[in-house]
Amino acid sequence: MSANAMAVDARGLIDVCAVEDVPAPGARVVSRKEGGDIALFRSSAGKVLALLDRCPHKGGPLSQGIVYGERVACPLHNWQIGLADGCAQAPDVGCAQRFTVVVENGRVLLDAAEVLGRTRLAA
Ligand code: FES
Repeated sequence: MSANAMAVDARGLIDVCAVEDVPAPGARVVSRKEGGDIALFRSSAGKVLALLDRCPHKGGPLSQGIVYGERVACPLHNWQIGLADGCAQAPDVGCAQRFTVVVENGRVLLDAAEVLGRTRLAA
């Protein structure tokens, strides 16, 4: 799914998918033309969270990692990244960009300013 082709509502939110479209626990990708893809996660408890799909270590695709509890293990070198804050667990350091998630009526919505801030809206 691509954020660039989705409509922005009056509140400045973009409806990207149904909650059920994101495996629990697991992840799904929202692609962007610029700024890097966004990884949507569902934690073991079913909470939906979103991070830039780039590990703060060397850019591994976090969406392809193993989600456990409230963390994802990067598939490249196994850094443990917190889904809520996007930050690596000590002793590793660095954070992936976080994105605001609104869950409403079984749908996942993202903040358009955050998602499209560095991109152009599709014509
Ligand atoms: S790129 Fe993620 S742990 Fe190295």
